[in-house]
Amino acid sequence: MSQRIGVLASGKGSNLRNLVERGFDVVAVATNKPSCGAAAFARDHGIALGEFSQRRFDSLEQRDVAMRDWLHDRGVELIVNAGYDRILSGSFIDAFRDRMVNIHPSLLPAFAGGMDAVEQALRRGVKVTGCTVHLVTEEVDAGPILLQSAVPVLPDDTVESLRARIQVEEHRLLPDAIRLLEQRIDAARPSLR
Ligand code: GRF
Repeated sequence: MSQRIGVLASGKGSNLRNLVERGFDVVAVATNKPSCGAAAFARDHGIALGEFSQRRFDSLEQRDVAMRDWLHDRGVELIVNAGYDRILSGSFIDAFRDRMVNIHPSLLPAFAGGMDAVEQALRRGVKVTGCTVHLVTEEVDAGPILLQSAVPVLPDDTVESLRARIQVEEHRLLPDAIRLLEQRIDAARPSLR
């Protein structure tokens, strides 16, 4: 059964767009950057948009409680972190435990914990990198891995060219990972018979 999805995003929103275009039931988008591309996409497509800029809240915890309640009010069952650039507090992670994924542009555990995984891969001279979808736990970028996809690093790659090829893979991997998680959630649901 398809889940009601809430997307957390701070960036250009290509993963959000891809999910919507593929027919996923994205019912809410939450952002800390109201001017980002993902927020503009939500507005343009009539998807409920929650704006949670940190300056409106006294603490990270307060912001995340407000964001959690807003998402619950919209009946969100599954959270997708698609380029969300803030660490989530424990109570938020707890509220969506085993129902929240993150997409990261490297083969975790390589190049975890930052927003510069593509730059790091180039700096380190790896010959293969890629992307990972994992469940979100308290440890940043270290939750159980659902799916990964490898992308070769080419000799003349720049950050832009490598990022673009990784994103092509992300747009295939994230939908697959969400379907996998939806199947797991369905399988864990107690039967009514
Ligand atoms: C993706 O590369 C993702 O791996 C990372 O942030 C980026 C978001 O891209 N966490 P977009 O905003 O979905 O285009």
